[in-house]
Amino acid sequence: MLQVNIDGKTYNVNEGSSILEAAGKAHIKIPTLCYEEGLSIYGGCRLCVVEIEGERLLQPACATEIKEGMVIKTHSPKVQEVRRNLFELIIASHDISCKLNCLTCSKNGNCELRQAADIIGINQVRLKSRDKGYSEDRSSYSIIREPNKCITCGRCIRKCEEVQGIGIFTMANRGPATIVTTFEDKGMGNVECTNCGQCIHSCPTGALHEVYHYENVWDVLNDPSKHVVVQTAPAVRVAISEPFGAEPGAVATGQMVAALRRLGFDRVFDTNFTADLTIMEEGTELIERINNGGILPLLTSCSPGWIKFIEHFYPDLLPNISSCKSPQQMFGAVAKTYYAEKNNIPLEDLVVVSVMPCTAKKFEARRPEMEGDVDFVLTTRELARMIKTAGIDMLALEEEEYDNLMGVSSGAADIFGATGGVMEAALRTAYELITGEELEKLDFEMVRGLEGIKVAEIDINGLKVKGGVAHGLGNVRKLMDRIKSGEEFHFIELMACPGGCLGGGGQPIPTNEETRTRRMKAIYEIDKGKKMRKSHENSYVQKLYDDYLGKPGSHRAHELLHTSYTARGV
Ligand code: SF4
Ligand code: SF4
Ligand code: SF4
Ligand code: FES
Repeated sequence: MLQVNIDGKTYNVNEGSSILEAAGKAHIKIPTLCYEEGLSIYGGCRLCVVEIEGERLLQPACATEIKEGMVIKTHSPKVQEVRRNLFELIIASHDISCKLNCLTCSKNGNCELRQAADIIGINQVRLKSRDKGYSEDRSSYSIIREPNKCITCGRCIRKCEEVQGIGIFTMANRGPATIVTTFEDKGMGNVECTNCGQCIHSCPTGALHEVYHYENVWDVLNDPSKHVVVQTAPAVRVAISEPFGAEPGAVATGQMVAALRRLGFDRVFDTNFTADLTIMEEGTELIERINNGGILPLLTSCSPGWIKFIEHFYPDLLPNISSCKSPQQMFGAVAKTYYAEKNNIPLEDLVVVSVMPCTAKKFEARRPEMEGDVDFVLTTRELARMIKTAGIDMLALEEEEYDNLMGVSSGAADIFGATGGVMEAALRTAYELITGEELEKLDFEMVRGLEGIKVAEIDINGLKVKGGVAHGLGNVRKLMDRIKSGEEFHFIELMACPGGCLGGGGQPIPTNEETRTRRMKAIYEIDKGKKMRKSHENSYVQKLYDDYLGKPGSHRAHELLHTSYTARGV
């Protein structure tokens, strides 16, 4: 422990702490912009500067380690003046029309620039704003980049490189002309971007956001000739209440269903139904591959961010991927066939909307292999915006139930939203289908939690089935390399986003370690509270097979529920 004096009080601080961390523990808020917990230190914005007794120059708190006996002033007049000057420079380089754009900006309500302005107490900008005149990058199906709003903090660069292990962004030019861009300024849609949206969570301004579909959804909801159905992904229900002021992890399933009905959707269904269906199809594929000497390990296919990653970086492992469509796409395929036929709805009038925690699902819905299954994809954030626009006080609504039959699901489907959940759901079903015996304990603790890579072994009829789980593409890459160097597994679950979909790029801001942990806890509580906790016990999924698909892995199931992939290279 080291002893330091911060703003006149003495504190004991762990060796190796930065001044920023020490001040945080002392409940002193120092403004930051380029700093983000979990990323390397850049020290570029200098907004966090502090005065250290005996040092001539102010030092950045995020990049300066505490030393024994340091005397630090975090808010002296000199510090405040320097911060105000620096902040004016940052503001002048931000979008020239920000005064207007703030109202329509994707970060309206949680812009870190505005939060910093509040802490710094700035009340004027004396410098003339500089019109950078860059055009927007609209090359991606998932993400829009607005370089005029970029303050070159570099957080997106570090998130993509250090957490996701990719490195899509780079700084170009020098001095005031510095910009953050993609390789050769090709645009996010023309490089190896996986559409995961993790950079959106890092961006302190509105320079990165999803491609909006909510205006298209308003149009179809207002068109009486359209029959509009909606599906909601497992991870949305544990996060949708956050933009309405609730604590992270507050479960709002029933209120969300009620709000969706008030928005005008004709039927409100649950992606969880097709998560159960996925387990039936993927479980069958796994059992077949094990019994018939097929290609192992079987790799999961629910995460479109991960799919684009493997298509670029490990195309030789594409035969390992399950041919199952993701639950989102399975839902669309079933809605546009079984549901439409059963209810005599002409396909030209049927619109399928998804609410996803995910930006990559927007790209997935436009993949030529599955185009037409899903028409529009809203992120959790977009749905919250629509509910607010409609003047609905969501958290005050009485809870309502999903519509049948695609609204009924097991607890195994709920846990799809957390890293390890697909593995656990598959093990619950595979064990019982293979052995014919009931599982004594349904909770597979060894695949739960936020550890980057998890490995588990389970004995099924004398066969030791080895499973692996990785989340966050940096961890995924490490696990892929273990497979390539010969480590044997039977089944591996891979999710592009840290924490799995509960930490998806379309989830409310902030999405960080704390919100991920709380949303995860809520997901497991939903599972625990359900009577039906195994996918193969979902009688409505069985009815779908009886009525329409035959059996898992049937010819018809393959036509509707399975797909193929494309090697893309780098
Ligand atoms: S969406 Fe994901 S892969 Fe693409 S730039 Fe952002 S963090 Fe990187
Ligand atoms: S796009 Fe956002 S995160 Fe990236 S450098 Fe610009 S302001 Fe920072
Ligand atoms: S982990 Fe979930 S949220 Fe992230 S890219 Fe995959 S499906 Fe989307
Ligand atoms: S937050 Fe410390 S230099 Fe930017």
